[in-house]
Amino acid sequence: MAFTLTKAVIPAAGLGTRFLPATKAMPKEMLPVVDKPAIQYVVEEAVAAGLTDVLMITGRNKNALENHFDRVGELEATLLKKGDTDRLQKVNYSTELADMHYVRQGDPKGLGHAVLRAKMHVGREPFAVLLGDDLIDARDVLLTRMIEECEKRGASIVALLEVDPAVAHMYGVATIEETDDDDVVRITGLVEKPAPGTAPSNYAIIGRYVLKPEVFEVLENTEPGKGGEIQLTDALETLAGNPENGGGVYGLVFRGRRYDTGDRLDYIKAIVQLAVDREDLGPDLRPWLKEYVGNLD
Ligand code: UTP
Repeated sequence: MAFTLTKAVIPAAGLGTRFLPATKAMPKEMLPVVDKPAIQYVVEEAVAAGLTDVLMITGRNKNALENHFDRVGELEATLLKKGDTDRLQKVNYSTELADMHYVRQGDPKGLGHAVLRAKMHVGREPFAVLLGDDLIDARDVLLTRMIEECEKRGASIVALLEVDPAVAHMYGVATIEETDDDDVVRITGLVEKPAPGTAPSNYAIIGRYVLKPEVFEVLENTEPGKGGEIQLTDALETLAGNPENGGGVYGLVFRGRRYDTGDRLDYIKAIVQLAVDREDLGPDLRPWLKEYVGNLD
């Protein structure tokens, strides 16, 4: 029987060391990208793909995340009194987006360990994993295509991006075989952050996964890998090598717009790119930006 996917898991328990001190008391997923925290873009993307049950894996700074998706009576009352319906709508929007659930990771022992914390909530269904470090432009389709392929092939699906070989060592990288579908490849191997110059291809994993529940048993038996962390990539490598258990792993090659918010430079670029495209900010930002760039040495 084919399952209809309803569950999204969003790991947000990392330490966010690249953004210290901003992330000392706040998860990096709460950093604003223009005027919305990164996490809200990700929840909106899940909801747009039909995933209304969202489980967030949180860490010690979970309060800001929970509060963002909860009511704020005092703020709502003040905006209502002022008649500021526009801002009131913005405040209420994130509250009503999805059915939110939270579980703590305890020690941040890696992305694989964070995903394993979703086992009880997810049960025996396929589910999506979305990372706040990658923002996918809402005008481009990715997650919906991944869900389709998971249902069609009965396999786990990861999102792949063709990257410059010079930066492949910063990602999980896939060994692939072509399929009859132009945007789908079969994954025969995966390696997390290969040493520079040793990547098996230019196909890098970006932070979207649609996984079969068999991944949980594999994660339970996955030893710490790169950086001493339990790596999701290592569990997927095991799944890829055992197609009889979980249907194997396929990659959906994404050719749309993706914004990286994982490190400071890419985060700044993402904000500029998104703001330039916004109707409310773009018309004023564009001419200023051109002049500013024109004056740069
Ligand atoms: P990163 O590798 O970007 O780590 O995690 P990080 O700790 O968040 O950031 P830096 O490198 O120290 O700046 C990728 C994703 O996995 C989650 C993070 O929250 C992020 O969404 N994660 C990572 C966990 O939830 N738990 C972990 O133990 C590790």
